[in-house]
Amino acid sequence: MAHKILILPGDGIGPEVVTEAEKLLFVLASQFGLEITLQHGLIGGAAFDATGRPLPEETVTAAQASDAILFGAIGGPKWEKLDRLLRPERGLLALRSALGVFANLRPAMVFPELVSASTLKAEVIENLDIMFVRELIGGIYFGEPRGIETRENGERVGFNTLIYSESEIERIARMAFEVALHRKRRVCSVDKANVLEATELWREVVSNVVKDYPQVKLEHMYVDNAAMQLVKAPKQFDVIVTTNMFGDILSDLASMLSGSIGMLPSASLDENGRGLYEPIHGSAPDIAGQNIANPLATILSVAMMLRYSLHELKQADRIEKAVQKVLRDGIRSADIYTEGMTLVSTQEMGDAVVAALQ
Ligand code: IPM
Ligand code: MG
Repeated sequence: MAHKILILPGDGIGPEVVTEAEKLLFVLASQFGLEITLQHGLIGGAAFDATGRPLPEETVTAAQASDAILFGAIGGPKWEKLDRLLRPERGLLALRSALGVFANLRPAMVFPELVSASTLKAEVIENLDIMFVRELIGGIYFGEPRGIETRENGERVGFNTLIYSESEIERIARMAFEVALHRKRRVCSVDKANVLEATELWREVVSNVVKDYPQVKLEHMYVDNAAMQLVKAPKQFDVIVTTNMFGDILSDLASMLSGSIGMLPSASLDENGRGLYEPIHGSAPDIAGQNIANPLATILSVAMMLRYSLHELKQADRIEKAVQKVLRDGIRSADIYTEGMTLVSTQEMGDAVVAALQ
């Protein structure tokens, strides 16, 4: 049966990078036997402009009926002044929640050809390969109560709630240990257990779950130290499992180890392996519409989709090998350009990956 894929381009550079990923899917279907059907939907600012809501019901229904979803990016200055509940970001958060994609897998790896594009020394990052497992539909992002209210004295207060249940911690810990079994079998759980009760419980539950994975070595680290260690000696890490907000922050930090945030894909998985796939970069409104964004993070997100949700391992390898070849051939978008390389546009980068498919 053909895999059903829903495409959600979103805002900013989202549509441009997603177009290149679609081009690739199209060629995999027409020349390499991949059986897929593609459908398109609205999300974010684009959805607000068309329907008055950042996540139309139709998009949720289509997503729930799909095997996998490819998402571009959302947000931009145009929608920043909107009421909080109507902002593009809320659309993405609501979609993650509606789909139950609790596990966000974000690899941070360094492509050998791009070592010089990082601001860190080559010996610090060479052969780096970290997998972040970020809890995605709980914690302070979703905890209630939340809001901005006015106190009796007329002063306003803003508040959010950091809350994790044992079962939420257990399922993300299991995911991290399962992922580690296919890697170097080391997991670092990142928390702030010295200050925050929610993560004191996190540490306790993770320490219990690991008893089912005797092959895996578990270590705990406070988030402030983890931020420091990621810059100082990132190769000490294999899998990092952490809360929604710590994962948001640390994965952006880690993306810079790899040279450009424009290179890194991500997968958000539910209990059954259905997934939402997206580049980890944002909508980059400053460069939107200029045909200069790097589509490789989105293209590599398609590879993750083929591997994790559609079980098309050969097709996933095919994409990753094509991307490697393009990098080896010196083809670079502006964000990863260094002297002597061939500077290409978004479209040309997509064409180059298609041409490198074997
Ligand atoms: C991410 C983004 C989102 C998040 C925003 C756009 C809501 O920063 O995917 O990392 O905070 O999760
Ligand atoms: Mg983020």
